[in-house]
Amino acid sequence: MRRMKTALRTHHCGELRTTDINKEVSLCGWIHKTRKLGGATFIDLRDRYGITQLVFLGDDENSNTLLQEGFSREMVIRATGTVIERESKNKNLSTGDIEIKLKNVEVLNKALTPPFTIEDDTDGGDELRMKYRYLDLRRNAVRKNLELRHRMAIETRNFLDKQNFLEVETPVLIKSTPEGARDFVVPSRMNGGQFYALPQSPQTFKQLLMVSGFDRYYQIVKCFRDEDLRADRQPEFTQIDCEMSFVEQEDILNTFEGLVKHLFKTVKGLDIPEIPRMTYADAMKYFGNDKPDTRFEMKLVEMNAVVAGKNFKVFDEAELVIAICAKGAAEYTRKQLDELTEWVKRPQIGATGLVYAKHNTDGTIKSSVDKFYNEEDLKKWSDTCGSQPGDLILILAGKEDKTRKAMSELRLEMGNRLGLRDKNKFSCLWVIDFPLLEWNEGDPNLLASLAGRWHAKHHPFTSPKPEDIALLNTSPGDVRANAYDIVINGVEVGGGSIRIHNKELQAKMFEVLGFSSEEAQKQFGFLMNAFEFGAPPHGGIAFGFDRLCSLFGGAESIRDFIAFPKNNSGRDVMIDAPSEISEEQLNELSIALRQK
Ligand code: AMO
Repeated sequence: MRRMKTALRTHHCGELRTTDINKEVSLCGWIHKTRKLGGATFIDLRDRYGITQLVFLGDDENSNTLLQEGFSREMVIRATGTVIERESKNKNLSTGDIEIKLKNVEVLNKALTPPFTIEDDTDGGDELRMKYRYLDLRRNAVRKNLELRHRMAIETRNFLDKQNFLEVETPVLIKSTPEGARDFVVPSRMNGGQFYALPQSPQTFKQLLMVSGFDRYYQIVKCFRDEDLRADRQPEFTQIDCEMSFVEQEDILNTFEGLVKHLFKTVKGLDIPEIPRMTYADAMKYFGNDKPDTRFEMKLVEMNAVVAGKNFKVFDEAELVIAICAKGAAEYTRKQLDELTEWVKRPQIGATGLVYAKHNTDGTIKSSVDKFYNEEDLKKWSDTCGSQPGDLILILAGKEDKTRKAMSELRLEMGNRLGLRDKNKFSCLWVIDFPLLEWNEGDPNLLASLAGRWHAKHHPFTSPKPEDIALLNTSPGDVRANAYDIVINGVEVGGGSIRIHNKELQAKMFEVLGFSSEEAQKQFGFLMNAFEFGAPPHGGIAFGFDRLCSLFGGAESIRDFIAFPKNNSGRDVMIDAPSEISEEQLNELSIALRQK
């Protein structure tokens, strides 16, 4: 670690070793803990770099005067003294071989008792720690996450810079569009009654930069989306946003596979094998999910043909009967199976019931529906699912989409229960050939006026596969896009596409999305017009930087990898935002609030 000498300190609190014994030093930091032992008083002094033990041996007059200061937790002090060898060494501390025999202590600032302990295992609840986030950030665990984030950003910049990518900043006050998630809007004082929107991503700007000839762009950039929050979603989050010209999908996949490998290598010391690719259709078929966790197999197996015609109504009448084979789970007790049945019936999963078959270690197969299926039938189930003695076959039946989704959840749950989702193991996957469009039945994250229309699965600038363009008129739902996602351990960490760079095709796309040509011109005219001035073929990708960091850090929630995150209601409870503004401000912004 580099020396940190300043006017106030000679070293930092993680720095001193036995080679420094007898040196006169000054350290600054926060009092982590104090304790008395015999005549001596010990203080753990903490800063960003570690903890150093300070000691008053109580063997001279000076120490008595020093002790009268009355030290308390989190007080900021400057300590001066001599480095001495410790009698009882602390192997858990990098500075554990030494301590500082104090000569002088200067209190730089007093501190109130913090509302929770500044320890790895703190006693503070979520909301309290959010309210005092600056104290939470003093804790090792949270600070380490931000250090990881910093390293990831530096390595991203190193890699992209070497590949000739140019970091360009794009504006934050832009134009609202009804496509995509809901916008956060900002009223304009100078243009009364009009609003800017905060960017959901710099998508159109990076495309315009390609028209400008910038050829390889990137930006580590804040994006804003007014959507329902989850562990892996924040209203403001960060992307590694990238775009390239004169490329095809293959070039993008190769370039950014390079970035992912570089990050794993430099940040985690891991060599990642070539990233496999799976079509969206296969991901849905085998995992029931467009972001499969491929750390483990347990693929979904369609069983309709195998189970039909045995008078079991649930299966005979179901649109889809689907199974997974949980390796080594035949030992599950009746109680565990009942509990699993309750689990799939929870509203979040929504299955009506669970059928199972135990492939016992003695080779026999017993199902929960033995009334309808004999030994020979169950042998067929086993052959179809590839079960071995010791395995458990789990089956769900019902409406196609809902059942596939429920089975995907059950697969993940069984993965958890069987310990197959190790956070220190990484499995990367490209999911390719996404559908261009999806039918919007009324997605709660979209404006209600967009319901009952085709909606761009990725965004409206994504290019269809050339061979599927003709289907835009006849069966839009079957058109595949030149779009791809990168998935790590079941988390969508990034997504992108090859773009439309031709004005006519872009206009056609807006038409399919239900925009009149006037609306399309009003919303996106600037982009379509730009395409008339020589747009190169281009494409790109954006990584969710917070998600990538939390994955590297082995955590599910992105919150602790963001210095000042929002809570689940989108509030910053520390600064108390959002908040009301004064009448005067409202008037200036030409905003009349509805009377309560
Ligand atoms: P997309 O919408 O797929 O693509 O976003 C890219 C990645 O950003 C992350 N992400 C989020 N992370 C945290 N909180 C959120 N609310 C949130 N929303 C998205 C995800 C996602 O994969 N402009 C296109 C990219 C392109 O086509 O180049 C875009 O924004 O990890």
